[in-house]
Amino acid sequence: MKKRNTPEEDSARPAGSKPEQHDDTSNGSSSRRKFLTAATAVVGATGAAIAFWPFLASWQPSARARSLGAPVQIDLSKLEPGARITVMWQGKPVWVVRRTPEMLEALGHDHLLGRLRDPESEVDTQQPVYAQNELRAINPEYFVVIAICTHLGCVPLWRPNFPEERIDEDWMGGFFCPCHKSKFDLAGRVFTGVPAPTNLVIPPHWYAEPDLVEIGVEDENYLNELPS
Ligand code: FES
Repeated sequence: MKKRNTPEEDSARPAGSKPEQHDDTSNGSSSRRKFLTAATAVVGATGAAIAFWPFLASWQPSARARSLGAPVQIDLSKLEPGARITVMWQGKPVWVVRRTPEMLEALGHDHLLGRLRDPESEVDTQQPVYAQNELRAINPEYFVVIAICTHLGCVPLWRPNFPEERIDEDWMGGFFCPCHKSKFDLAGRVFTGVPAPTNLVIPPHWYAEPDLVEIGVEDENYLNELPS
């Protein structure tokens, strides 16, 4: 069992401030990790994250961290089923949603799939290859997505509950952009008949541990071995 931070420590923390249990990744496994930008490769001690979920501590990133767009680690151990956490990465809001079994079941509903523009994530610009699957995730339970509408860039609203007749009489949970009424399901897949042209974007990420996700970093193993 890995060591965890105390509740007083941040749940979303800069990537450079790793806990002790990550020491092993600084040897053999760290060589597998691919930093996506030169900036993130040399930063080491800075990152940018803000956690808004009430039971998680907030952390205000420095202006320098924001400008560098350092990777951001998020401790998921206290994220409850059905809840969402928001962090900032490269100046963009990123959501992590812990999907419940009910939510996951809804995502495979035939009635929903028939109303989606790209239900199997075939537009490959919208996610890394390791998230190019129906649930758009490495771990189906956790959905990681950039919270920016693919129409004109508004931040959609989180509307996980269903039914929600104000949005759609068949609403099964997801994200609703009030700017021009685009709708996305709980995998960020866009509905047909709305202005947004594509699914929401999945950022590069990997799991340093089962409940520790890092945004802005990829594991080369994910690129070679697609999750089942
Ligand atoms: S910006 Fe989201 S629908 Fe237009």
